[in-house]
Amino acid sequence: MPEQVLRDVPASAVSRLLRECLRAAIQAPSIHNTQPWLFRLRTGALDVLADRRRQLRALDPDGRALHVSIGAALLNLQVALHARGWASRLLLLPDPGQRDLCATVTITRSTPPSPLGRALAAAIGRRHSNRRPFAPVPVPDADLTALVAAAMAEDASLLVPDPSTRQGVLALVRAADRQQRSDGRYRTELAAWTFPVRGQADGVPPSCSGPRPDQARVPLRDFGLVHDGHRKSARFERAPTIAVLYSRGDEPADWLRAGMALQRVLLTATARGLATTLMTQPVEIPSLRAHLVAPHEPRIAQAVLRLGYARPVPATPRRTVASVLLDA
Ligand SMILES: Cc1cc2nc3c(=O)[nH]c(=O)nc-3n(C[C@H](O)[C@H](O)[C@H](O)COP(=O)(O)O)c2cc1C
Repeated sequence: MPEQVLRDVPASAVSRLLRECLRAAIQAPSIHNTQPWLFRLRTGALDVLADRRRQLRALDPDGRALHVSIGAALLNLQVALHARGWASRLLLLPDPGQRDLCATVTITRSTPPSPLGRALAAAIGRRHSNRRPFAPVPVPDADLTALVAAAMAEDASLLVPDPSTRQGVLALVRAADRQQRSDGRYRTELAAWTFPVRGQADGVPPSCSGPRPDQARVPLRDFGLVHDGHRKSARFERAPTIAVLYSRGDEPADWLRAGMALQRVLLTATARGLATTLMTQPVEIPSLRAHLVAPHEPRIAQAVLRLGYARPVPATPRRTVASVLLDA
């Protein structure tokens, strides 16, 4: 694969720029905050790799959620490069012989950042999963329309169910959550990624798990299930605004693209002052996921989102750039 190093820009400057943008990449959401990514800087290019040691074997045996997480990091990279005035080219799964090489990013040319691009870049550090109750206020149509457009820009679609369909989707989330909670392997895995140790650089700490979810209203994943199962519940909104993200296919490249679409939707929501939470439990259980199939293309469900207004929450920790950077 020929590497595209910019004429007039020294390779060392390109590497420095890519390294800088890694700080944005690693702020992406990831399943259970596993941060299942590794990066390798080459001359003028960046390889993005899956770290299979961080794959959730019980929840994610096929590595779908792992790829969605990496896709979100890829979108952050692109957005960060764009905001610094650079267009990039992304090759997904460039080498069939190396299945863990998810993408290669090269910088192609300088380009003035758009106002939207700047706004999305500014949202990267402000986007956090918010598991608190949301205000009982509907999300304006203009915002929902912008989120739908964000998904479309990445060749995905976002469906905002009407109130009657919403109850059906929430019932699927609830059923999936119940099934996972009663699964010993799921609980053991969750316990490992929610270990309440201060200073841990990955996993979901108690400070980010929110109050005990109100399963009847908003069936959020309970990150305190194993270590903090008896913490207080709170009054959650009665009619949450939710949306379902769909992709065209269900192969690793589709999962990466779905992650990019998901992150564009989440950043757009953050830029518009919305809080977001993911509720992906039904997508993780094939028999329940089958009920989420959309009637039109794209039709494969990849995530359920909750949107609304809430007090800000603290950031979940991240590993350092140095600890996710491989030697070339
Ligand atoms: C594929 C995927 C699935 C996720 N599913 C859920 C979920 O079901 N419930 C939830 O509360 N968070 C979910 N998350 C959010 C992660 O837990 C979160 O991104 C991670 O803990 C880092 O925190 P942050 O989003 O605040 O940066 C998911 C994230 C990804 C990428």
